[in-house]
Amino acid sequence: MMQRLGSFKGLATSVKKIVTQTPPTLDPFEAYQLWADTYDNTGDNALLFAEFSAVRPLIGSSLRNGKSILDAGCGTGRYSDLLQRSQPRTHVAIDFAPKMIEKLRSKILPESSIFPEIARLEQLPLKDETFDFVLCTLVLGHVVELNRAVAELSRVLLSGGTMIISCFHPYGTLLGWDRSFRLHNASKRNSWVSAKYYRHLHSDYFSAFQTAHLKVVKMLEPVIGEPIKPFYDRAGRLDLYERFKGYPLLLVFLILKQ
Ligand SMILES: C[S@@+](CC[C@H](N)C(=O)[O-])C[C@H]1O[C@@H](n2cnc3c(N)ncnc32)[C@H](O)[C@@H]1O
Repeated sequence: MMQRLGSFKGLATSVKKIVTQTPPTLDPFEAYQLWADTYDNTGDNALLFAEFSAVRPLIGSSLRNGKSILDAGCGTGRYSDLLQRSQPRTHVAIDFAPKMIEKLRSKILPESSIFPEIARLEQLPLKDETFDFVLCTLVLGHVVELNRAVAELSRVLLSGGTMIISCFHPYGTLLGWDRSFRLHNASKRNSWVSAKYYRHLHSDYFSAFQTAHLKVVKMLEPVIGEPIKPFYDRAGRLDLYERFKGYPLLLVFLILKQ
């Protein structure tokens, strides 16, 4: 029996369910192509709430106005508005899923300075040392070649530049929490699918950062705790809250390129 606690799309909605079947696991590209249509209908999502609560202050304290920004694995642009508020000189948003990029493009306002591009993290079509600031949220766990992706992110970051990375906590994968979502127009009970996710340990991240001349200046591990208790309450699953209280959900890194 698997408990769908770590779903991207709705810790609260997913905690309502104790599923008896493991949802089929799709390659991340295929999964996000399917997910793009409904990705923004996040609803009452504890995981994204916890992630945003940790990442937003880091962006606030480290991103100055007028900088060049890369949002790597941008999805439909969950961070676009916040990043745009800093009036960036350049704001490139890349994702390998064309449908995610299409969705982002459909939301861009004429006055915005976002350039969405289809690209893979592992092979960025971008010049060395281009950006002051790189954001990469909830992506690296889907990437099998962690070292290569981190090296690419570092390559395009200027020396002295800042990077913020968030990812699902490796403990979640040990507990069998999956990265699942419900297919848009499927009404069948087993219409959940999950996106393939790789368990990168803390040491894997630190080793990749060190090789890429990246220095971690802050690491956060947001846990299941009071701020997200209301999500469990609304889902009628305070039992799960009590059981998993204190378990880490996320790893968040604030990084400087040396
Ligand atoms: C969970 S979503 C996160 C989107 C956005 N960063 C956010 O925080 O809402 C993960 C995104 O990473 C993208 N992605 C996964 N692997 C990728 C890769 N190797 N290269 C580029 N994008 C990738 C997916 O298409 C998806 O849009």
